[in-house]
Amino acid sequence: MVIMNTELLLARYSANTPRYTSFPTAPHFRATGEDSLYTQWLAQLPPDTPISVYFHVPFCRRLCRFCGCHTSVVHHDAPLLSYTTSMMQEIALVASKISHKLPVSHIHWGGGTPTALPPECIKSLMDTLREHFNVLPDAEIAFEIDPVTLTQEQSDMLAQVGLTRASIGLQDLDPKVQEVIGRPQTFEITKQACDGLRAAGARSINLDLLYGLPLQTTESVIRTAQKALELSPDRLSVFGYAHVPWMKKHQTLLSESDLPDGSERFQQRMAIDRTLRAAGYVAIGLDHYAKPTDSMAHALENGRLRRNFQGYTDDHAETLIGFGASSIGSLPQGYVANVGGVPAYRKALEQHKLPITRICPVSDEDRLRREVIFRIMCDLKADLPKIAAEFIADADLIADADSALQALAADGIVEWNGAQLRVTETGRPFMRHVAACFDQYFAQGTARHSKSV
Ligand SMILES: C[S@@+](CC[C@H](N)C(=O)[O-])C[C@H]1O[C@@H](n2cnc3c(N)ncnc32)[C@H](O)[C@@H]1O
Ligand code: SF4
Repeated sequence: MVIMNTELLLARYSANTPRYTSFPTAPHFRATGEDSLYTQWLAQLPPDTPISVYFHVPFCRRLCRFCGCHTSVVHHDAPLLSYTTSMMQEIALVASKISHKLPVSHIHWGGGTPTALPPECIKSLMDTLREHFNVLPDAEIAFEIDPVTLTQEQSDMLAQVGLTRASIGLQDLDPKVQEVIGRPQTFEITKQACDGLRAAGARSINLDLLYGLPLQTTESVIRTAQKALELSPDRLSVFGYAHVPWMKKHQTLLSESDLPDGSERFQQRMAIDRTLRAAGYVAIGLDHYAKPTDSMAHALENGRLRRNFQGYTDDHAETLIGFGASSIGSLPQGYVANVGGVPAYRKALEQHKLPITRICPVSDEDRLRREVIFRIMCDLKADLPKIAAEFIADADLIADADSALQALAADGIVEWNGAQLRVTETGRPFMRHVAACFDQYFAQGTARHSKSV
């Protein structure tokens, strides 16, 4: 095995690749104008198996220039009240397709900023969910939160609806970086939010950090990571800034000459990695870190870590029902995506139609490839004959991927003996490329993805 230098690895492996939060990936879902297949899938869900629920709130009280999320800014409550009504209609409509009150073990509120909703809207949505589904007493209830716009009234409501986890956007604490990205946020405000959310019932706090933002340096991201550690987060997500101005017009407000180059970006990633590991955090997959006592670190240790649309999870539910514009659901039969635009979402529900716009039945071969891809993304290893035996015994995945894996092995990215695959620590930042060896659609596709490192 040859150990390549970083510049050469970056030249070879920084090309854009999917993040593999689903397989097949979203660009390969097919457009659909009707909801009968999804209706069938819902009707077939087993009555006693707990499911997960995702609520997407595509609104924020401020717009950060770097933002790549599906969201828009609102300055008054009317659109939020109307959106809440549509989501309540969607919950009732989905439930009407299922003949029993399904148990719910996980609820994740994402966005945007779910706490952009007035507190009474959060309450109405949770009440509607409880009316139509059996939310288990020990269900995990997680909220993504922008600490700067969080009010005491909202924290009180989160406590009332049973918040157990909070994921807080910290991003970067350097005032110069914050100014250019349009996201002022002091350490004290972030700390107040963490303390308040812990008091409101969050037994686990996640912080999001970013690297690759304009004006960030290796030294500045280390300073941010060290300050973040003072908040004693249970988990951290460390994302590379995805610059996709062809999709997110507001990112054109950022000057490309302020962006760190590929090599500096990589150094920033590695500097945060070293800082968090030195503080005792366990590296999870591509971009997560957890305290060794956290359930995500336990899931990694026990081979039970899963990949989902939020990144990594220890949630074992096989079914995730997505509510809200642009939400994506994952059912045993396949994936469904809701329409992205809020007006089209509202209109579909007014007409009593499920607001789905794309669907992707998952074939047996997809399931097999998904398991290999998810094992690589979660465990950094895959035993191909063992996985094939569990799915399609005569599958010939190895023949497809062998030459690409041999090339990755020659570069020190993986260890590969023709049957068992392991991603090395050198290869960890490039694991999306290893996973792509098993993605038969990627080679054929033309979708544009963000930088993989
Ligand atoms: C839905 S937001 C989190 C909650 C809240 N809206 C906030 O910003 O604090 C999820 C996370 O996505 C990440 N994110 C947003 N835009 C991104 C981009 N262009 N590239 C990479 N990560 C991004 C940020 O770290 C952000 O905290
Ligand atoms: S980063 Fe968070 S708060 Fe900022 S615009 Fe995006 S979703 Fe909204």
